[in-house]
This record gives sequence, C-alpha cells and structure tokens, in this order.
Amino acid sequence: MLTGKRILLVIGGGIAAFKSLDLIRRLRERGADVTPVLTKAGEQFVTPLSVSALSGSKLYRDLFDLTDEAEMGHIQLSRSADLIVVAPATADLMAKMAQGRADDLASTLLLATNTPVLIAPAMNVRMWQHAATQRNLAMLQDDGIRLIGPNDGDMACGEFGPGRMAEPLEIIAAIEAGFARGPLAGKNILVTSGPTHEPIDPVRYIANRSSGAQGTALAAALRDLGANVTFVTGPASVAPPSGVSVQHVETAAQMLSAVQAALPADCAIFAAAVADWRVANAAASKMKKDGAGKTPALEFAENPDILATVSQMKTGRPALVIGFAAETDDVIAHAIAKRLRKGCDWIVANDVSPATGIMGGAENAVTVISDAGADGWPRMSKAEVAKRLADRIAQALNG
Ligand code: C5P
Repeated sequence: MLTGKRILLVIGGGIAAFKSLDLIRRLRERGADVTPVLTKAGEQFVTPLSVSALSGSKLYRDLFDLTDEAEMGHIQLSRSADLIVVAPATADLMAKMAQGRADDLASTLLLATNTPVLIAPAMNVRMWQHAATQRNLAMLQDDGIRLIGPNDGDMACGEFGPGRMAEPLEIIAAIEAGFARGPLAGKNILVTSGPTHEPIDPVRYIANRSSGAQGTALAAALRDLGANVTFVTGPASVAPPSGVSVQHVETAAQMLSAVQAALPADCAIFAAAVADWRVANAAASKMKKDGAGKTPALEFAENPDILATVSQMKTGRPALVIGFAAETDDVIAHAIAKRLRKGCDWIVANDVSPATGIMGGAENAVTVISDAGADGWPRMSKAEVAKRLADRIAQALNG
C-alpha cells in the first residue's frame, strides 16, 4: 500500500502519456496523493483537465505561473513529495535531466529536488538504443535515479523492440519496492539468469534449456526485501521481473561484460546457465549446404567462467558470491567440489535430470552448500526457493 505517500508525477510528451492517466488512478486507489506536473509536450497527448480530474489535485504546468509561485514555489513543490515519478520519461526529458537543464517546470523541479526519482522511459526503439540516450541513461543511473522499463513490444510508431513504457502496475511495483525498507534496503545485488546463445552463424546458435524462472524469481524476491537489483539476463523464456534494472545479453562474453559493468555489488548471484563453450569458427554469413552431403565442422572455444572470475577478484569482490550447480548425477559431491574450484561462498545445487522436471518447471529442490555444510531443502515452488534464499542472503549481509 502507498497510504499517505506523496507522489509528484511528471508527465512527459509521448504517446505513452495515456497510460499515466491509469497510473494516477491506480496510485490513488492505493492511498497515494498524486500531484501532477504536465509538460508542454505532454499536453499534446493528454488534456490538463483529465490529468487534474483524475488526480483530484492541482495540476502544475508553468514555471512562471504567478499564482502557483505565490501558493507554492517550484522549489518547495520539488521537495514536497516522497518520490518523483517521471512517466513517460521521453528521450528529451532524460537528456535534460542528464545535462541538468532547467528550462521548464518539469526539468527545474527535477534539478531542484532532493527526493528520490524514478523514471519510466518511453520512446521509439531507435531513440532508446541511440548512443546518446544510453549515455544519458548511464549518467542518470550514476546520479542515483531509478529506472523501470522500458519493455519490449510493438510500438505506436509501428516498430518493435525496447521503448514501450512499463505498464502502470509495473511502475507501481517499482514504487512500492522503493518505499519498502526491507532488510536488503540499500544493498546492491546482481543476479544473472537465463541461458546464453552462442552463435554458429548469424541465424543459428547453440543454447540450453534454461527458462530463467529461478533467476527471475530470485531477483523479484530480493527486490521485495528492498534490494537494488541488477538483473543480467540471457534470452530467457520467462519475462524479467519489474522493479529491477534489466540488462539483456545474448552470449557468455556479453554477460561477463554486463556483470563487470554492474559491479561493485554487495552480493552477486549467478543463476544463469552459461554455455561452457562458444563456436570458435562462427561464420559471418549464413552457412549453406554444399549439396554433396559435407557437414560443417564446428570448433569450440571455452567461454569465460563468470562465477569463477567474480569469485576470485582480488579487489572489489562482492561480500557474498553465490553460484548454482545444475547437475544430473552425484549432485551434492559435484556441487561441493564446484564451490571450492570456483571460489564462491555458497552453491545452490539442484538435480536437473529430465525425470525431476526441474529445468523449465515450476518447482525446485535445492541443497545450499556453504562453509557451514550442506543444507537440503524440500521440493517447493521456485518462488518459495527464491524467498528462502533471499531471507538467507539478508541474514548473511546483515549479520
Ligand atoms: O560449471 P557450471 O556451469 O556447472 O557452474 C554453474 C555455476 O557457474 C552457475 O552459477 C553458473 O551461473 C556459473 N557459470 C558462470 N560462467 C560460466 C559457466 C558457469 O558464471 N561460463
């Protein structure tokens, strides 16, 4: 619940602004007070009247409005909230925020505020992927601004890809997570998840059966305890959780780079099923049958071991490094040896023989191996495994 929470909602000028009307309604249903700020561009997409009527509050639009300034100056307005939410955060608004510009009410409030800020970007996929936007995003995240979305999907402009604003309920989950002062509040936790895809040529790849379900459940459970979660995911079949910072990667090499970019962290959990090998002689263009029955000979190179790399860092190693061991036989013995070989603190071992139905399934039966020995848990849902692990992580980090 968000009872009594004061939220200043900045609505930028994008087609996703229509979703902000629903966001206002849902925030108020949960007891929040919403003060809306509509940019000039935002007015092109939603009307001041609908924003004001839905919020039940005065709408702020103009930096130089004499009445507004007399009643509540813009500096005071910027400090009057518990949280500022920018939804939709357009490419232009993000650029202004990153540069510290203050040429209208929204940008001035965002520069003057000392309260936390959450942005929900929405823009065309090319605009989102443009180096300038990504640079601005990195700066904003360095400044401590929290991010929700954007999501992949069909866009109003007819293109497909990342750039759709997160749905109102996802934004609310991120807001609630931000307010929850759980036992992991203030802790930065990195989670890898899903399979990796290792290209054979531009259209074919080698993969594994990981769905990303356990990693996703774990990231959500850590978020629910208040952690700032960076979720580095391969091409998983399960959608990433809301309210976490998501980095999409394909290959093991890309996953390693994303992991290194996400450090330092208080804890790092490697739930991804990383391909052990990549194709060393991957073709630059699509391989063709030669018509004479000759088959291609793939050569393999070993992938970097991300868990071992981070576990063995000389400086900046996370205080708690956790690996997973998916095995099909001698599960515990293999996992104990793996923990020592890789140098991580805990290994979460599970039996992924096809008969268990664990890989890609909804349940898991794990044994947590640490310095303290092997702790076998009964079979339970992946969400319950995630909750128990998150609790144990909170105890370890706070102990
Ligand atoms: O060696 P194996 O793949 O069984 O180890 C499993 C653990 O190591 C998992 O936590 C997995 O995420 C991690 N791993 C990794 N990088 C690799 C291979 C595995 O981080 N290249």
